Amino acid sequence: MTPADLRAALLAHYDANARDLPWRVRPQARAGGVRADPYRVWLSEVMLQQTTVPHATPYFLKFTARWPTVSDLAAEADGEVMAAWAGLGYYARARNLLACARAVARDHGGVFPDTEEGLRALPGLGPYTAAAVAAIAFDLPTNVVDGNVERVMARLFALETPLPDGKPELKRLAESLVRDERPGDWAQALMDLGATICRPKAPLCDRCPAAAACAARGGAPETYPRKVAKAERPHRYGVAYVLTRGSEIALVRRPPKGLLGGMLALPTSDWRSARWSDAEALAAAPATAPWRGVGEVEHVFTHFSLTLQLLRAEGEASDVIWSPRRDLDALPSVFLKAAKAGLSNLL
Ligand code: ADE
Repeated sequence: MTPADLRAALLAHYDANARDLPWRVRPQARAGGVRADPYRVWLSEVMLQQTTVPHATPYFLKFTARWPTVSDLAAEADGEVMAAWAGLGYYARARNLLACARAVARDHGGVFPDTEEGLRALPGLGPYTAAAVAAIAFDLPTNVVDGNVERVMARLFALETPLPDGKPELKRLAESLVRDERPGDWAQALMDLGATICRPKAPLCDRCPAAAACAARGGAPETYPRKVAKAERPHRYGVAYVLTRGSEIALVRRPPKGLLGGMLALPTSDWRSARWSDAEALAAAPATAPWRGVGEVEHVFTHFSLTLQLLRAEGEASDVIWSPRRDLDALPSVFLKAAKAGLSNLL
């Protein structure tokens, strides 16, 4: 297969199989001149850097229903946006999202710049997002390389250099296939191929439109991209305190910098490498109360995994934010999980 044949095969496959996604303009509509809304493309790309399409989709629908334009989002209070982001993880992104929305509203009259360089100059908008929005919203022939595209290239060309060292080469290989023809569809065709056929664990090579061009086919495609063995994640232990006062639960606001910065949280002890004894857990509690152990929850962050030992009490405390239990959805996943477990284990 020549590069032109490969492109034609992938684009034809995309024409017939493009996933229906709420931010996507399908290839037939694009061919008819319908353009994607840059705001929706940008928002979806930021969310999808965090998580999968099924997890991001309800958030995307919620955000766009509540804030239909970038100017609506820009005008919203920080706390409201942070709360709506809860559950998507990596909260620095939500702050960057707002900074970017406000720059577009303030400096560009609510209209996204229509060049890769212009997009790249917006606060918090990295090279990947700039390339993706330029291609998908403005049909500019940029090189859009995310983890999916890296995997597709590593297999197509059977690149033996392990990640992360192989990244620049994978980027060059992806670049070699970019043309002026249908750049937005091309970027999305590669993403869809990576998500639905050239999957990380069990690729469906029998259905792949690029199989005839794939150097890894017949070998062990699922072993690409090669990776340098990762150091094991460290494990930490902390105590989370589930303190209630009738229908309210005690929350705290985490410091602005650092992990889960600025987010609402359960009060916790420090997180350290050793499990907490009962006496230590009581000494670190945010209030004197009839604490009792109600189990624990596990959570995996990017750089470590965490066991939160749970203590539960009904009582009073100062320096906490008393919040209705039904507002728990504004908590990051780790604390939502801990709060739910702490409350239900009581029953
Ligand atoms: N993953 C990242 N961006 C995507 C997009 N625009 N469509 C589908 N999957 C994606």
